[in-house]
Amino acid sequence: MKVPKRLQPLLDDGLIESVESQLMSGKEAQVYVVRAGGELRCAKVFKEAKQRSFKQAVQYQEGRKDRNSRRSRAMAKKTRYGQKEQEQAWLNAEVDALYRLAEAGVRVPRPYGFVDGVLLMERIADAEGVVAPRLDDVVLEPDQARDYHAQVMREVVRMLCAGLVHGDLSEFNVLLDAHGPVIIDLPQAVDAAGNNSAAMLLRRDVDTMRAYFGRFAPELLASDYGREIWALYEAGELHPDSPLSGTFEEASQGVDVDELLAVIEDAREEEAERLAALVERDAGDA
Ligand SMILES: Nc1ncnc2c1ncn2[C@@H]1O[C@H](COP(=O)(O)OP(=O)(O)O)[C@@H](O)[C@H]1O
Ligand SMILES: [Mg+2]
Repeated sequence: MKVPKRLQPLLDDGLIESVESQLMSGKEAQVYVVRAGGELRCAKVFKEAKQRSFKQAVQYQEGRKDRNSRRSRAMAKKTRYGQKEQEQAWLNAEVDALYRLAEAGVRVPRPYGFVDGVLLMERIADAEGVVAPRLDDVVLEPDQARDYHAQVMREVVRMLCAGLVHGDLSEFNVLLDAHGPVIIDLPQAVDAAGNNSAAMLLRRDVDTMRAYFGRFAPELLASDYGREIWALYEAGELHPDSPLSGTFEEASQGVDVDELLAVIEDAREEEAERLAALVERDAGDA
């Protein structure tokens, strides 16, 4: 195929040998199949900032560590330098997430570097070597749906143990290779500890997966892995292999009514004493 402009520099530098085809375009990026290092890989090119949508929302940026204070200040001030840096930080976020998650044993495409705004990564393929389908492309038997759902929950737990919440997990961002689900599309991944929306995003991710797999195995619709996983994480008890029940009991932080009434009564008595003292003093003044 004709070489896309954005990939030409990589071709010139010999980082890729040829461009084979373009995969279905997603919301934020174009993904090409390229030949590199003697095998087929994927090259992800991010669309221009103005064509992108929600993922750059402030909600996702919060808590991202940026140790370069000049850069942080510039980003905050929205100078031209700041905007360029913001763009770069965004692009880097997916690369950082892929390296971190691959390291933590999460099933993600193996990253092969990030050059001129292009992310090179493993091409996920099915058993026949054909590019892997997305969950959205397949119809599942109930048993298969239950099995894949459990595997995706395990990946979500591993991601959280590595400090990240995907933030846009859906049937469009999970591929199926010969061994099961592979998680993709991570530029919006949020810092689990530093982002106030992390709990909400984790639950949304998990609930989206529940709704998808629940189409094929309806009993999954009654599960509540999202709150269970987050509660374990918050309690410092989440491990990559933590057993999960899929249920969640509201912690018994139930109010002790007798205790509460006693506190109110104490306050009332104190107030009555204060008033009585005032009345006495006024009477003394008169
Ligand atoms: N490593 C990969 N291997 C195979 N297909 C991929 C890979 N990465 C992306 N794709 C395909 O490209 C599509 C778009 O990629 P994605 O990372 O989801 O970007 P976005 O949805 O933001 O445009 C995916 O839905 C998937 O079909
Ligand atoms: Mg996507």
